[in-house]
This record gives sequence, structure tokens and C-alpha cells, in this order.
Amino acid sequence: MTKIVQVCSGTEELEHALAEIVIRVFEEWRIGNGTDADQLFYIALSGGSLPVVLARLADQTYRSRIEWNRCRFYFADERCVPLDHEDSNYKACWDAFLSKIDVAEENVIGIDSEKEPHECAKLYAERMKHIPLKNGFPSFDLILLGMGPDGHTASLFPGHALLGEESVFVAAIDDSPKPPPCRVTLTLPVINSSSSVVFVTGGSGKADVVAKILEEGNTDFPAGMVNPSSGNLVWLLDEGSAEKLQKNDCALN
Ligand code: 6PG
Repeated sequence: MTKIVQVCSGTEELEHALAEIVIRVFEEWRIGNGTDADQLFYIALSGGSLPVVLARLADQTYRSRIEWNRCRFYFADERCVPLDHEDSNYKACWDAFLSKIDVAEENVIGIDSEKEPHECAKLYAERMKHIPLKNGFPSFDLILLGMGPDGHTASLFPGHALLGEESVFVAAIDDSPKPPPCRVTLTLPVINSSSSVVFVTGGSGKADVVAKILEEGNTDFPAGMVNPSSGNLVWLLDEGSAEKLQKNDCALN
């Protein structure tokens, strides 16, 4: 695994850095996959603050650099609310970003979040059947994650039994400490089978956990368990979330 930590000064720099990283990951994928239109770039998005940061990628200067018709979007997690509810990750991603790029709606694979959570987790796993497998798990080309101040990521929370899930691709949770309590999430083996994972993390409330994960190598936090064994891991931080790092920044090269 290659790990890169990049510290940005301010939200705007974070947005531009994320746009450049997504473009770079896409370009590297395209070099490996040629012009075969049947090959798709599989990307998973998160909720929280990520959709708004990602919106920069929809700017004209960036969006023309990705072939959106070759991208298929999934969600790393979803809250069990209707897709047009203001807590919906689908809605947040659609409103901030997906509606502004040239992506066909059939290439945005939402979670059927109005169904019973276990049922919708099962259905979502079935909707991943075209994604190539790595070690028996779907291997996304890119997963974009956020992290909470408690070290959770997607809907994987500290100390939760779901962290030990080793068989299913998608799991339901009905006791999320972050509201709403019912959610559906990719499991760790899927996240760790991804070719690239990018954490986008802002705010000094996350600085302690960031330092524990990145400098002490703490793997108690769900975000610290993300370790795509044969992929790339990028931590994109703002100055607040990086303020307890001693070594600071390793620049992207
Ligand atoms: C969710 C998210 C969740 C989020 C983190 C960070 O649906 O709640 O997917 O994992 O990414 O809580 O959220 P912020 O970026 O808003 O801090």
C-alpha cells in the first residue's frame, strides 16, 4: 500500500486538491483500461461534508478532464431515509455534485434506503455484481471517505460488531451513534479491496484522532482500519485536522 498525507490550507485548497486527486486516479485507471467503453470506473461517495468539497470537481476546468460516461457511482454508506430527504447521502451528493456533471442517472447507483435496512443492504450488494472482485470482494477504483471526530468512517463506528464483518459486502446498522440510527454501509473488506481510498477530513475536532491514526498507527478507530492492502491511501487534511501532527505533510508527487 502507498500512503500519502496532504495538508491543505483552507477549504478552497482542499477542494482543488480533491479534484486533482480524483482526476489523477481516473487518468491512471484510463491508462490501464484503454478505450474499451465497456470498462467502467467504479467510485463510491460518502455523506457528511464530502459532497460539498467534491463539488469543485464539477467546475468547468476540472469536469472536462473525466469521461463521466465511463464512471459508475455508488455510495460508501447511506442513511435510511427517503432519497429526497435532507439527510440522504444520495441527495447531498446529487445536489452538490452529481447533478452538475454529465453522468447518466443509471450510472448513479443509490441504496434503496426506504426498504428494511437488512433487505436494502442485501439488494445493494447485488447491485455490485459487475464490479471486478479482489480476494472475493468488489474492488472499487476509488472510494471517497470522511471521518468523524470519534474516528468513524462510512457507517462503521468504534467498537461496533460490524467492524468484524468478514463475509458480506454491505451491512445494515440500526444503532448508529450519529443520527439517523438506521444506516447501510460498505464493510471493511470491501473498502480495503479498493484500488484507491481518499479520506477528506477537515476541522480541529478531528486532530487528535488524525494524529493517533497517522502518527501512532492506531488501528482501534474504524478509519485507522482502512488499509487497502494492494492499493493507495490518501489522507487529505485541512490545517485544523492536521494541527496535532508533528511531522506534517508528505507532498503528492
Ligand atoms: C455519513 C457519512 C459519514 C461521514 C463522516 C464525516 O453518512 O454520515 O458518510 O461517515 O463521512 O461522519 O462527516 P463530516 O465530513 O461531515 O465530518
